[in-house]
Amino acid sequence: MDLTDRPRRLRRDGIRELVRETELAAADLIAPVFVDATTDERVPIETMPGHERVPLEEAVDRVEEVLETGVSAVILFGIPESKDARGTRAWAEDGVIQEATRRITAETDAYVITDLCLCEYTDHGHCGVLEDAAAEEPRLTVDNDETLELLSRIAVSQAEAGADMIAPSGMMDGMVAAIREGLDREGFEDVPIMSYAAKYESSFYGPFRDAADGAPAFGNRRHYQMDPGNAEEAIREVDLDVEQGADVLMVKPALPYLDIVRDIDREFDRPVAAYNVSGEYAMLQAAADRGWLDLEATALESLVSIKRAGADLILTYFAEDVAEHL
Ligand code: PBG
Repeated sequence: MDLTDRPRRLRRDGIRELVRETELAAADLIAPVFVDATTDERVPIETMPGHERVPLEEAVDRVEEVLETGVSAVILFGIPESKDARGTRAWAEDGVIQEATRRITAETDAYVITDLCLCEYTDHGHCGVLEDAAAEEPRLTVDNDETLELLSRIAVSQAEAGADMIAPSGMMDGMVAAIREGLDREGFEDVPIMSYAAKYESSFYGPFRDAADGAPAFGNRRHYQMDPGNAEEAIREVDLDVEQGADVLMVKPALPYLDIVRDIDREFDRPVAAYNVSGEYAMLQAAADRGWLDLEATALESLVSIKRAGADLILTYFAEDVAEHL
């Protein structure tokens, strides 16, 4: 054979690692943590083996467990003690996220990101206030502009509690501008915003909605989250968030949307985050549980793929397990 190019030459042990293009590091990973104000003991999340909702008293311990694996950033989700139509516990000074953030930032070196959304705090489970909320039959759609004011208020309360970065996930138009304006007005111009910029209306969020008790009580999120068929629209969404001051651009979910991760990485000169969501985690766990897949290997391969596609940061429920093996 007259082959000059033999790519196999570089696949042998020893050289293989030297020519590797994408290397995953614990520093790329962000671990989600669920803090639950309704419990005083840890509650395993059935659909997400290995994850738990922890009470406020254990929030610091939980984050220390994450730090021990080499992961230095967490994103906090809260389950409040009570819910109402406007989600008022989302911006309470003694709210579950505010309290957890205060404790974690006081007692650990973790970089604390707070997820900012109303769906865990509203009794109807939508990501904002409903239109005509006071009417006997509220319209079953979220009032965008009413919601913006609340998002800004939540952001300020999270920053006051010490959040290092704010991550709005509600897909309201203008949310980044509203939050930036609120933060700046209150003196938090150094707190960055990681916007869930291209967030799809995905069925892969199923296990999370169990975990955070945030399933919509009626309807779905199609009127604010993106249609899975759209890619050009993602560019437009991200463009708007960049104009409004987003510092980090997130795509969510990750694996089914790697084309979007790549598009955004190429189009914009800002860090790109990808959220390897609950359903992506649950699939591998379920298959591994049956002995059909090697969990550690498939988790690592998934995260490397997400990074290879262009993500700089990865939010993942595998953060701790994978970091321990890096
Ligand atoms: C809240 C929010 C959701 C997720 C993160 N923030 C759920 C949703 O939009 O329905 C999903 C995370 C996951 O599935 O891991 N808006």
